[in-house]
Amino acid sequence: MSSVVPAVPFPLLPTGDEEKDEELRRSFVRDEDERPKDPHNVFSNEIPVISLDGIDDVDRRAVMCQKIVDACEDWGVFQVIDHGVDVDLISQMTSYAKEFFALPPEEKLRYDMTGGKKGGFLVSSHLQKEVVRDWREIFTFFSYPIDERDYSRWPDNPQGWTPVVDAYSQNMMALADKLLEVLSEAMGMDREALKRSCIDMQQKLVLNSYPKCPDPHLILGLKRHTDPGTITLLLQDQVGGLQVTNDGAKTWITFLSNGRFKNADHQAVVNKDSSRISIATFQNPVPEAVVFPLAVREGEDPIIDKPMTYADMYKNKMARDIDLANQKKLAT
Ligand code: SIN
Ligand code: FE2
Repeated sequence: MSSVVPAVPFPLLPTGDEEKDEELRRSFVRDEDERPKDPHNVFSNEIPVISLDGIDDVDRRAVMCQKIVDACEDWGVFQVIDHGVDVDLISQMTSYAKEFFALPPEEKLRYDMTGGKKGGFLVSSHLQKEVVRDWREIFTFFSYPIDERDYSRWPDNPQGWTPVVDAYSQNMMALADKLLEVLSEAMGMDREALKRSCIDMQQKLVLNSYPKCPDPHLILGLKRHTDPGTITLLLQDQVGGLQVTNDGAKTWITFLSNGRFKNADHQAVVNKDSSRISIATFQNPVPEAVVFPLAVREGEDPIIDKPMTYADMYKNKMARDIDLANQKKLAT
């Protein structure tokens, strides 16, 4: 399954200049305290698993809501099964992604996303100023609002991919809608509350390719972080690599739940033997949407005093994350 993906992110393709190659390799090496403690294939059964089977049945839905509340209070993450998304669509989407990442660098760079382009290909991260790099290549589709799609940023290679991305994106939107409805009820609000507050959802698909890595104990596929948006749906293959810790930070979903639900603190590790693909679907409010704590319970104060736009919140969070990472690196 993994053999078509090149063995290293392409800036590391040997240049023939030993010093340069070594310097580049070092640019991925993490400080000791950030290095992975567990390998990719140590799986935990602690993460709650939620079946969406019977979602429209009143009793089963009530049980589902309670399970989701527990999962969000403890972890900020849960695994969804019986989600109803067609398995063939999922495997088509994954195969196309693999084919794309296996293309030569110059072909992928036709969709270079640096310089603020809306969608396309990047190596490592969209935080291009960061000091230590992530061991991954990514491709981003801005998929919603549909009338704002820029199809010139959607690859025509591999051929036939566009309708599959379109179908996948619509399926993810429908699944997110379902989950937001249950989450709203789980927070004690009416079914439509979260969807209403995230007027005109923006959806972004981020495809991650994590090549085999010679030094998985020193390097991360994706550094530790929290996601800024309303909800993230993550599809991953069988390789493993997503790691979550439950003693972490709080941001956007925390705003909505006024601190009650955790925002999962997570990272992706890499390994020597298999490359890995994951597809993250970020469901966010549109940039101009105003965000504020939505589910403030009796006796609580809102955790922020002034509403702000999602664009400002996103900018602040990203600036803070990168500053923290870089300050820490420069201090060592
Ligand atoms: C992400 O956090 O966006 C992706 C994590 C993963 O690939 O496991
Ligand atoms: Fe993430």
